[in-house]
Amino acid sequence: MYRTHTCGELRLADQEKNVTLCGWIQRSRDLGGMTFIDLRDRYGVTQLVFNMDTDALLCNEARRLGREFVITAEGRVTERSNKNPKMPTGDIEILVSRLNILNTSLTPPFTIEDESDGGDELRMKYRYLDLRRNPLKNNLLLRHQMAYETRSYLNSQRFIEVETPVLIKSTPEGARDFVVPSRVNPGQFYALPQSPQTFKQLLMVAGYDRYMQIVKCFRDEDLRADRQPEFTQIDCEMSFVHQEDILAMFEGLVRHLFQSIKGIAFNEPFPRLTYAEVLEKYGNDKPDLRFGMEFVEMTGKAKGRGFSVLDSAAYIGAIVAPGCSEYSRKQLDELTEFVKKPQVGAKGLIYIRLGTDGTVKSSMDKFYTAEDMLEMAATAGAVPGDLILILAGDRIPTQKALSELRLEMGNRLGLRSKGVFRPLWVVDFPLLEWDGATDRFYAMHHPFTSPKAADIGYLDTDPARIRANAYDCVINGVEVGGGSIRIHEEQLQKKMFKTLGFTDEEAERQFGFLMSAFRYGAPPHGGIAFGFDRLVSLFAGEDSIRDVIAFPKNNAARDVMADCPSEIADEQLKELSIRVQKS
Ligand code: AMO
Repeated sequence: MYRTHTCGELRLADQEKNVTLCGWIQRSRDLGGMTFIDLRDRYGVTQLVFNMDTDALLCNEARRLGREFVITAEGRVTERSNKNPKMPTGDIEILVSRLNILNTSLTPPFTIEDESDGGDELRMKYRYLDLRRNPLKNNLLLRHQMAYETRSYLNSQRFIEVETPVLIKSTPEGARDFVVPSRVNPGQFYALPQSPQTFKQLLMVAGYDRYMQIVKCFRDEDLRADRQPEFTQIDCEMSFVHQEDILAMFEGLVRHLFQSIKGIAFNEPFPRLTYAEVLEKYGNDKPDLRFGMEFVEMTGKAKGRGFSVLDSAAYIGAIVAPGCSEYSRKQLDELTEFVKKPQVGAKGLIYIRLGTDGTVKSSMDKFYTAEDMLEMAATAGAVPGDLILILAGDRIPTQKALSELRLEMGNRLGLRSKGVFRPLWVVDFPLLEWDGATDRFYAMHHPFTSPKAADIGYLDTDPARIRANAYDCVINGVEVGGGSIRIHEEQLQKKMFKTLGFTDEEAERQFGFLMSAFRYGAPPHGGIAFGFDRLVSLFAGEDSIRDVIAFPKNNAARDVMADCPSEIADEQLKELSIRVQKS
């Protein structure tokens, strides 16, 4: 037996026990007569002590141990004279009588401490060392716990976990596929699933009723803090349900996770806002509801005074920054620079300061009287002491820019605390999105999403007006999940493919198997998938999902530890009937 206990479990009550621990050397201190070693494993850190007076040989041996050596140490649990209340094991230490080096270690390229001195790339290269650090370890433990609680909740609701294939026929969901060449079928390719969408629908046709899977998905898209080329979904599907049943079931899952993992209960039902509403109020289909600062439209109010910026604008929108009327010139210049950034895209920023003494000052004093501005301030719902920030331009881009400004003000005013969680459902997404570049409609969610019954008539006349039975779960400005009620009738699905510009032959070639299944008694069904990495990073308070994934890719989609993707041998290429064209 290598060890009797872990490095996290011994307490005062274990005094005088003879124990054996295994672990890595976190740090050692040599105080002449005594040598102290912090021994670390997954469970914690325990102090080992070696005494020159009682065992000089052993003490000298301990002095030679380097950081991250793997050892086993046997000894007696004793009460510490110098207790460390910050460590769970801080009341005791082990007076070591036997020491065995299981393995040596090179000096790690960065410190294995909570705050490491290693940069991002270096820590990615030595990810197995980075994973020894507490912040990452705690994230992986949290991830495990959340997966466990997810399965526990869904199991209690009679969901069964079914594995679906990883080598599949391409399922278009908006991103590019990763493809895998087939050796035995030269010139042909599998795709890696962007999600198990079609399979879970087939499981419903097969009668499995309630399906779930914690599953890897693959999308070849540009990376961001909340996107990885391979990521994990909590993927679910149910039969004989309406949208309402799905929202209730999965609001239940989110509540269960918050309650069981964080001890947080939400008293109210999650708010439900329509897509049209969230765009008008927050300029964003994943609004952060930790703070208000809703948009106020001023388009009707602010025109006609000769200020061409406003007079020529199709949309004028304002937000009220509470208590910010005393913002300095410099602060306002910073905000102006912020909105002009290419990724925000506004041309400029207009402000009205509503002083606590009732005075009003603005960047458009030349065109508007104090009364005009007070009226605008009243429309915006501002009170003395507030700062009103106004953007003007075309409707959609201006709302988008105002959304960025709102989030920036939320940050500046400390209104986006990581300990506060505000979930909501966004419902009634449009079914289709028009793409001017390719001159065709795309499914906003995916081609299997059903239109609202009341809007089906527009399929022939005005497809852009159709709302879908589609919903997203959003928490603190993060889209954590999305799903829809599916089309389950062959004829409607055919019509949908047609609207999306597929010929009958193309639809048959890509989705023949699904269409054919629909001819054999497809039940009404619908589902949802949560981005598991996003949920975990939200719970962990991390800004990037990389920090909750054991072995993530970097921003260039590379695994810098294994140095991949990489070239493959000519022999392998030949076997796969592939010739690489080098540019
Ligand atoms: P959707 O494409 O909305 O729906 O994906 C569901 C959820 O997965 C997460 N997500 C990602 N997380 C990390 N990296 C990525 N690249 C990434 N892409 C998506 C998001 C998102 O809300 N089959 C449908 C679900 C359904 O209709 O049931 C689907 O995949 O949190």
